Amino acid sequence: MNRTPLSQPTSRSDSSPVNGGAKGRLMTSQTSDLDTFEHETRARIAASTDEAALEAVRVEALGKQGALPGLMRTLGQMSPQERAVMGPRLNGLRDSIVEAIAVKRAALAEAALEARLKAEAVDVTLPAPPAYRGAIHPISRVMEELARICGEMGFTLEEGPDIETDFNNFTALNFPEKHPARDMHDTFFFHPGPDGTRRLLRTHTSPVQVRTMLKQKPPIRMICQGRTYRCDSDATHTPMFHQMEGLVIDRTTNMADLKGTVTALVRAFFEVDELIVRFRPHFFPFTEPSAEMDVRCDRSGGQLKIGTGADWLEILGCGMVHPNVLRACGLDPEEWQGYAFGFGVDRMAMLKYAIPDLRDMFANDVRWLRHYGFSPYVLPGLAEGVG
Ligand code: PHE
Repeated sequence: MNRTPLSQPTSRSDSSPVNGGAKGRLMTSQTSDLDTFEHETRARIAASTDEAALEAVRVEALGKQGALPGLMRTLGQMSPQERAVMGPRLNGLRDSIVEAIAVKRAALAEAALEARLKAEAVDVTLPAPPAYRGAIHPISRVMEELARICGEMGFTLEEGPDIETDFNNFTALNFPEKHPARDMHDTFFFHPGPDGTRRLLRTHTSPVQVRTMLKQKPPIRMICQGRTYRCDSDATHTPMFHQMEGLVIDRTTNMADLKGTVTALVRAFFEVDELIVRFRPHFFPFTEPSAEMDVRCDRSGGQLKIGTGADWLEILGCGMVHPNVLRACGLDPEEWQGYAFGFGVDRMAMLKYAIPDLRDMFANDVRWLRHYGFSPYVLPGLAEGVG
């Protein structure tokens, strides 16, 4: 194991006669052996290229079974004179080897760190790798498109909270107390507060109409977009979905303005100029008269195509603002009138971008997002086309 042949010091029990001359020679030869040992060990330390090699040298020289401890164990058998020379010599040798190993270990660690830093260096001036960089969700995209179109038509964008009062969501919108239309909305109610009133998750974006009329003097020309909630879940319904609402309040607005506006909006959105629409009478508590708008579509061939064809597809609700709603919002129905429209944004996105299942929209599956998402660098604009 030991590479350096070290003669063990002669013990006192040695039969050879103990005289000064013999002892002197012995000690001289031992000391020169130790010199060689020290020299070679230092050379091996210097030649160690990694931590493992250095550790092997340490174990051979200083380990329990190593050369130096072996020699130290013989000190006890030496004559006092021998010990006086060999003791300090061996201690000094051990200390110097320990130190040489420590110095080398530090140097190796530094070199290893240096190498690692070099290997892991990142050139920040290189172009980014062609990795996936995130995308705009189709719903965000569609809301942006709709906001652009309506912005061009002179609408402002308003906002309202997801948690609403019963008054804003129902009462002010002419839903009578206990009226079945409230149940129609499958509302998520919160527990009643200390004053007995229940807050709720808004079931449509129409409460933002109320908020806007309460805070702003007409004429009003606003849209709002956002999350809405109904306790409903299947292939075409999720408990959370998105709506967009439009409201115009002025002195002479009429049903023709409403039809022209929503037709233009839908044509711009689907980018089909010849899009054929029709209005069917309907009921909403907050509009009178009320209508639903259908667009022409083609379901033949298993694929839904918007614009032409023999079928109709319902896409939005609308009507003239009910006088009771105007009154609840502090407006005189003799002076002001208006129209409103509202629709599901998710459905619009599905129709425009051929997304088959509504629930996938909110599953956060990155493969879906990659497929249906939009580049954040290409914003919709009317000049370039909104789609
Ligand atoms: N709030 C209605 C709904 O959620 C849509 C609508 C809005 C209808 C505005 C008419 C006017 O179904």
